[in-house]
Amino acid sequence: MDQLRQLNVELGERSYSIWIGAGLLAKVSSFLQDLKIDSTQKILIITDEHVAPLYAQHLLKDLEDAGYSTYIYTAPAGEKSKSLTEYEKIMTYAIEQKLDRQSLVLALGGGVVGDLAGFVASTFMRGIPFIQIPTTILAHDSSVGGKVAINHPLGKNLIGSFYQPLAVIYDTQTFHSLPEREIFSGFAEVLKEALIWDVPFVEWLEVHRDQCLALQEPYLSEAIYRACQVKTFVVSKDEKEQGIRAILNFGHTFGHAFESLGRYSEYTHGEAVSIGMVIAARLSESIYGTAGVADRVSKLLSAYGLPVSLERGTWSISDIVEKMYADKKVVAGSLNLVLLKELGSAELVQNVSPELIEEVLKKGEGIT
Ligand SMILES: NC(=O)c1ccc[n+]([C@@H]2O[C@H](COP(=O)([O-])OP(=O)(O)OC[C@H]3O[C@@H](n4cnc5c(N)ncnc54)[C@H](O)[C@@H]3O)[C@@H](O)[C@H]2O)c1
Ligand SMILES: [Zn+2]
Repeated sequence: MDQLRQLNVELGERSYSIWIGAGLLAKVSSFLQDLKIDSTQKILIITDEHVAPLYAQHLLKDLEDAGYSTYIYTAPAGEKSKSLTEYEKIMTYAIEQKLDRQSLVLALGGGVVGDLAGFVASTFMRGIPFIQIPTTILAHDSSVGGKVAINHPLGKNLIGSFYQPLAVIYDTQTFHSLPEREIFSGFAEVLKEALIWDVPFVEWLEVHRDQCLALQEPYLSEAIYRACQVKTFVVSKDEKEQGIRAILNFGHTFGHAFESLGRYSEYTHGEAVSIGMVIAARLSESIYGTAGVADRVSKLLSAYGLPVSLERGTWSISDIVEKMYADKKVVAGSLNLVLLKELGSAELVQNVSPELIEEVLKKGEGIT
């Protein structure tokens, strides 16, 4: 195995470690032993139908060989599983298998499984411990920080809680089975962490693009480590998003509008956020009077295979602005956007005027 990297999320008694490296999945039982999970504790692995055939059996065998009683629940793949229906099915399964307050949930999969399994863990018998075992690049963002949620038919992530995992065990080797589009999409959030916080990381990503996209070690683990480092730092300062944590939403208010207008099938989350980051960077230039930042952001994102303009969209500016106002981050009618004062330095700007947004959108391609 390559080098094992470790990061700590400092949240007092809710502090935990993130372990990152290639091949960690084969050693989950030894991490559990280090975490003092004893073999009388039942373990429920929650995964999805794409990930299960690839990785669940190995994990199950490792845990059973170490003496753990292990159960597995496989949800359908995709966003539709973050539903009340799936949540109820898992609860029923857990009760039928006689899981109890000492039991442990392992979330094996991408952000969908992490959010769903985390929400199950946060509410089963008023909360049982859970461990994130992410298998997508994008999940560096969802597995760290403790936001867990399911969707309501009327909106995404409307039912959830803040519930920190006991640990994150991140095996970068699992990325090799990801479809190419998921790799690019995952890198959108890695690039986001760099753009809002860490100029040396931006430079590193510019230089090491080929190795990163070829999923080459040690570059891959380094990219995930540095992205998690930004997320960890921000979350440690503001666990419940009352202040600085909002900067992690850079590009997201635009992105959510594009995802929603495209009915969640035209763009992946990472693609929509990528376009959103370029537009937010252009808006930043007009507000702060800077130059060159948006071009650099756009160049970097397209180098990572991501769209930087709305070529496939046929939406009007008023449709986009209206969707942005429907975002759950809009408070009392004030549209607050994360902007870049300069590269590596983001802030939440309150009450951005719709006229300014319209002006920037007018300059974008694919918008009428
Ligand atoms: N909680 C948070 O802070 C937070 C942050 C960002 C995103 N999210 C959530 O994350 C979700 C998106 O996460 P995602 O992009 O990982 O989506 P996902 O979990 O749906 O995974 C994407 C696809 O890849 C498949 N897959 C996963 N791992 C694989 C592997 N190793 N090999 C092959 N296929 C694999 C999945 O089955 C799925 O089809 C959204 O629901 C979003 O709301 C949450
Ligand atoms: Zn995101």
